Amino acid sequence: MDRSTYSPTQPPVRDHSVDHAACVTIIDDEPINIEVVKAYLSEAGFSNFRSTSDSRNALDLMEENQPDIVLLDINMPHRSGLEILELMRQNERYQRVPVLILTAADDPEVKLQALRLGASDFLSKPVDPSELALRMENVLAVKAYQDHLARHSEMLEEMVKERTRELEISRQEAIHCLARAGEYRDDDTGQHVTRVGRYTRIIADELGFDRQQIDLIEQAAKLHDVGKIGIPDAILHKTGNLDATAYAAIKQHCGIGSEIMNPTHSQTDADASHPANGEAETLESTRSPLLQLASIIASSHHEKWDGTGYPKGLSGEEIPIEGRMVAVADVFDALSSPRPYKKAFSMDQCLEILEEGRGKHFDPRILDAFLRRKHDVIAVQRESGEQT
Ligand SMILES: [Fe+2]
Ligand SMILES: [Fe+2]
Repeated sequence: MDRSTYSPTQPPVRDHSVDHAACVTIIDDEPINIEVVKAYLSEAGFSNFRSTSDSRNALDLMEENQPDIVLLDINMPHRSGLEILELMRQNERYQRVPVLILTAADDPEVKLQALRLGASDFLSKPVDPSELALRMENVLAVKAYQDHLARHSEMLEEMVKERTRELEISRQEAIHCLARAGEYRDDDTGQHVTRVGRYTRIIADELGFDRQQIDLIEQAAKLHDVGKIGIPDAILHKTGNLDATAYAAIKQHCGIGSEIMNPTHSQTDADASHPANGEAETLESTRSPLLQLASIIASSHHEKWDGTGYPKGLSGEEIPIEGRMVAVADVFDALSSPRPYKKAFSMDQCLEILEEGRGKHFDPRILDAFLRRKHDVIAVQRESGEQT
């Protein structure tokens, strides 16, 4: 669609907008009336006529050639003009076709009924030729403008859809960048966060979450380790067993990630009084469902089903379900991927280790869901180039 040609501020100019090639359908039980109308309209420049004097054929005629305007008599045998008008309004194809009523009937009730059914205008018989042409042109000009507005609104809708798609893509890219930032020092390709997102998606799907929730869970799961950004390299990359201080520092990545994505505290006085900050501000909690969920996952993905995890030592269903889902996905990915200090475990070894964690580290129901979809998990591994 050429956007430059449509603007509601530039309606078609009436005199030039009338399409004299418009298909004019004339329905009148008197053939002579049809001929007279055709002759008048031909003089006014119209040339594309369809007509019938048998009202029963009216809709078939329209079916053969989609009319741009219908000139309709009211009093006809078999089927009245009002009946035809009513049938047209019930049919999506003819709902918006303008109908000009040509009638000798002077009954105000008939006129009201025709207006209720959406007649565009009336002409009394005998028809005045100059009035006929002018009214035709008026009705067609209004129709052209309505069509123009309809096309314009369709185009706006299309533009809104396109912008929404673009925004969604930017949003996903921003989430991916943020997720990678947390893992960058371990994995600069972002594959770990992508896979954890996809494994969590598979579990959510198996557990029966709806499509919208599944999309949200996948995105939020990718952000589970954003808090690692706040852990010093010396601790994050420490090899061998961690001492209690280093382990305590590592554990903080849950709280840091949670706070980054959904701040729940006021800025410190020092921050608030910083000249660049102007007046003291309070960091607001996020209103984004995605960041709310990502914050929950960040704070709960290291909790364990038996209560021995961190940071809060929650157990069982106290642990948010999304955190329990990411726990399985995250551990599986750590086991099945090579790390600088270890090779990737085989699929059998990974499954054995996960089984050992049943009811201890992992919620059995979630572990079962993961295992039931083993073939999908393997497909994700293959796609990302990691195979156990
Ligand atoms: Fe983590
Ligand atoms: Fe992770």
